[in-house]
Amino acid sequence: MKVDVLLGLQWGDEGKGKLVDFITPNYDIIARFQGGANAGHTLIFDGKKYVLHLIPSGIFRNNCINIIGAGVVIDPIALVEEIKTLEEIGVDVKSKLKISKRAHLILPTHRILDKVSELDKGDAKIGSTLKGIGPTYMDKTGRNGIRIGDINNELNSKYQSLKDKHYLIMDRHSKTLQELDYYSTVKEEESKWFEAIEYLKSFDFIDSEYYINQALKQRLTVLAEGAQGSLLDVDYGTYPFVTSSSTTVSGVCSGLGVPPHAIGNVTGIFKAYTTRVGSGPFPTELDNEIGEKMRKIGSEFGATTGRPRRCGWLDLPALKYACMINGVTELNIMKLDILSEFETIKVCVGYNVDGEFYKDTIPFDVSVPIEPIYVELKGWNKDISNCKVFEELPKEAKDYIAFIQLETNCPITRVSVGPDRLQTIMR
Ligand code: GDP
Ligand code: IMO
Ligand code: MG
Repeated sequence: MKVDVLLGLQWGDEGKGKLVDFITPNYDIIARFQGGANAGHTLIFDGKKYVLHLIPSGIFRNNCINIIGAGVVIDPIALVEEIKTLEEIGVDVKSKLKISKRAHLILPTHRILDKVSELDKGDAKIGSTLKGIGPTYMDKTGRNGIRIGDINNELNSKYQSLKDKHYLIMDRHSKTLQELDYYSTVKEEESKWFEAIEYLKSFDFIDSEYYINQALKQRLTVLAEGAQGSLLDVDYGTYPFVTSSSTTVSGVCSGLGVPPHAIGNVTGIFKAYTTRVGSGPFPTELDNEIGEKMRKIGSEFGATTGRPRRCGWLDLPALKYACMINGVTELNIMKLDILSEFETIKVCVGYNVDGEFYKDTIPFDVSVPIEPIYVELKGWNKDISNCKVFEELPKEAKDYIAFIQLETNCPITRVSVGPDRLQTIMR
């Protein structure tokens, strides 16, 4: 078997949580491969809403193993909080969750360093979620990090104890933080961190690369759940306004330890319009009453930070770029219902950058002044949130979907018309 992938093609919050939850019955294993608690994945079923940050979106289904893979960075305090919240509502997390020994740990000082870095950048700040993601990946690639597997090495005298490792890193961080008078805030967090580590000791730490490769040999089905979106990828996103991990399909190979030929179907998901939370370029942003209307109808507020999301029309050059980077084999369109209240719908089909035209590509730097070139389509002006099959959709909605398919040359296989698990149309 191969690892199927579901990932976001825009700047995150495309609806990954909803769709992973929807398709989980087809899979034995759901694995997160990158990112951390900067993610906020919303699931709605049986009239209840759940937001997951670190735990894969298969956790509510029976007979499904959920893996936090090697490429993820874990804040133990956040993870334990999330586990306890789920346990309180009766989810047996312990039997369904496995954590890669190679996943790196976020320390309290990483979170403070994140904040300091943002303050330091002033107006040029990234708009980080302040979860310590960037500084932790920096320590990982700088070869200074601590991994989940190090928790079990504590008793082996050949290795530095977890406490020694922790203090070594803290000492390095403290030099920066003391200068800035931040260090005093760490102490309380430090004891919470060690308490969380104790709690996690009873969970299953695995060699996730062996676990997943063996599962594939045994013909088990595996889905990799992306976090963030392709335009936030550290290499191919709108750098420097990106996150610090590989959010695109290549991150699946490094983050789960599977070879490229083990990648199967790649489902790219996108909103029927575009949103972005945090700073950075956004060519089709609508800083006007239309954008405000999208935010209001779409309830576009961050699932992790609560910040209002910036809204704009669908950007086809950027979508085509994300399809190419990821080798997307099928597309799923989300939140189509939000466009039901618009008389006309615009789609960006190209960029005019100072007289130079882009249609199928995007320029190296999208923070330069860009005039989006739009085509205008007729809206459907009708509630579609109760449509169960494709044929029930109004002609104009079908035309919108057909137009995107034609432009991207990729089939749209699912249409989401509401936040609930059941509001999903299969084609
Ligand atoms: P994720 O990070 O990609 O999992 O997405 P988020 O959960 O951060 O944001 C998506 C938001 O849109 C959540 O509030 C979902 O409940 C909601 N949502 C997902 N799909 C749809 C849809 O088709 N229609 C509507 N109205 N809401 C949706
Ligand atoms: P999900 O998985 C939307 C954005 C932040 C910021 C930038 C860097 O829910 O789609 P970071 O904390 O990673 O250093 O922030 O990335 N960002 C997201 N935006 N959805 C997310 O995750 C995001 N995770 C990070 O707003 O602009
Ligand atoms: Mg989200």
